[in-house]
Amino acid sequence: MAGKLFIAGNWKMNTSLSEATALAGALVEKIGSVKTVDMAVCPPFPYLSGVKEALGGSKIALGAQDVFYEDSGAYTGEVSTEMLKDVGCSYAICGHSERRHVIGETDELINRKVLKCISDGIMPILCVGELLTQRQANETIDVVSRQIRLGLEGVSSADISGVTIAYEPVWAIGTGVTATPDQAQEVHAMIRALLGEIYDTPTAGGIRIQYGGSVKPDNAAELMNCPDIDGALVGGASLKADDFAGIVLEGIK
Ligand code: PGA
Repeated sequence: MAGKLFIAGNWKMNTSLSEATALAGALVEKIGSVKTVDMAVCPPFPYLSGVKEALGGSKIALGAQDVFYEDSGAYTGEVSTEMLKDVGCSYAICGHSERRHVIGETDELINRKVLKCISDGIMPILCVGELLTQRQANETIDVVSRQIRLGLEGVSSADISGVTIAYEPVWAIGTGVTATPDQAQEVHAMIRALLGEIYDTPTAGGIRIQYGGSVKPDNAAELMNCPDIDGALVGGASLKADDFAGIVLEGIK
């Protein structure tokens, strides 16, 4: 296992400002002083500042759901790393499957975001994962390997330790269908081996690989107990303070 578990909540396009700050406040109360697991929440862009304030001096870090690779200028709708840092973000999700498959982001675009995060001191969470049709066609390893290789193109071994990989099989996201611990561990082990090829084995051993896809308090422990699973990226369950706190508390056991 790569050091401390890292559990992040991806709120996606949900909550109002008051719901977002209330959720953050409830999390601070329940798990705000947990030191043995790294934690982050990723609210929608407009609520980052408000949530940061609600998180206060707690141990829960702030992340963004996306980022752009330019510093500033005529990029309507985009948000820069400096803007994210300005409002207190430490992390940014890059290449979430919904951005790949709904918005159409390519591996090349995602790689530029990852590189920009690294150069500006935001820790990227690079998401990878296969579609159901790709799993059924036995393409999981090919798809995930390609996403990792292209997503990490140009990331040096000195910089890779600040990168988190999130393996999220698309068929398990928001569906209530979770990959079994064996299915997840198999892909995580493959990812770790690939990172060992790209970098080296000790370096690969230190890179955190989260699992994502219908993680809940009642399946979190069996997933995070797998040798190559170093935490979770949580969607739906991160919108309920009890559930997200429950997942974090499973990680402490
Ligand atoms: P889910 O989402 O937990 O609702 O399946 C996970 C994700 O998309 O990061």
